[in-house]
Amino acid sequence: MAKVTIDGRSIEVPDGTTILQAARMIGPEVAPPTMCFYSKLKTSGGYCRTCLVEVTKGSEKDPRPMPKLVASCRTTVMDGMEVGNNSSPKVKEARKGVVEFLLLNHPLDCPICDQAGECHLQDLSYEHGSSKTRTDFERRTYNKINIGEKIQLHMTRCILCYRCVKVANQITDGRVHGVMNRGDHSEISTYVEQAIDNDFSGNVIDVCPVGALTDKTFRFKSRVWFTKPMLANRACDKCCGKVNLWYKGEEVLRVTGRKDQWGEVEEFICNTCRFDKKNTSDWTIEGPTPVDRHSVISANHYEVLTKPSVIHLNDIKPLPLKEGDKI
Ligand code: SF4
Ligand code: FES
Repeated sequence: MAKVTIDGRSIEVPDGTTILQAARMIGPEVAPPTMCFYSKLKTSGGYCRTCLVEVTKGSEKDPRPMPKLVASCRTTVMDGMEVGNNSSPKVKEARKGVVEFLLLNHPLDCPICDQAGECHLQDLSYEHGSSKTRTDFERRTYNKINIGEKIQLHMTRCILCYRCVKVANQITDGRVHGVMNRGDHSEISTYVEQAIDNDFSGNVIDVCPVGALTDKTFRFKSRVWFTKPMLANRACDKCCGKVNLWYKGEEVLRVTGRKDQWGEVEEFICNTCRFDKKNTSDWTIEGPTPVDRHSVISANHYEVLTKPSVIHLNDIKPLPLKEGDKI
């Protein structure tokens, strides 16, 4: 076991735990944001630098601080390590820079992007970015590539987190897409523009932190905050069958995997559940999906509202006066 202190809060974790995992065990107040790490995907992380932290004490044996900020999703803890995340001015400054780099080529098209309202980059730039831009040159754009009937690729919005590539590698049975080229010419593409048509390919939509991969069957149908997510399940022979149904009125507009508190899919679902089961009668409804109060998705949903109890004027008793009180 190793003891690690993050933003002044300590925890003992098994050897081999990363700083990010240890921070998540302590709680969301100290957990660094992530754009490429995904706990359900092996070898994810290390691409975006969003999760940078400052190691102010290396370990009990060697207390020297680490000379540079480190990616918390790729750095394992040492016994006695001390880490600054939200408490470190260096980290705050660096994170602002990372957001600036991520937005350098990202279009500011949130008003027409289907991911708006559940976009991790939108949240990241709101919480950690700067309100001004220092760039006025044209952003990088790509030609549109068709990757099939159900999934829309909008490469111009991609931040190259590699999550979709890892889904294709690890979850589907035949990967047909990947990152082509290098540097600022890198792009997500399919080999010879083949369509992605295997049972689990739809999961690339759920893992994409931005609006680069979206559900064609849901595109432009509704803003996410006008929909109502419901937990539902069905007996499926390909996947767990546990999903979120996104309703608008009586209509199921889309089906997605369920996400945990870190915005990561709990269990990957198959394309049959995602694209072919859009009738309420296909599902057993469990109830409304709990939505974080701060999420825009919870706007206008009143399930969690607790009404104040009614107070009758006769019930209000004046407090007894003490010596020296002024009336
Ligand atoms: S398309 Fe989305 S998931 Fe894939 S690398 Fe780009 S941002 Fe990441
Ligand atoms: S989340 Fe750690 S580098 Fe992207």
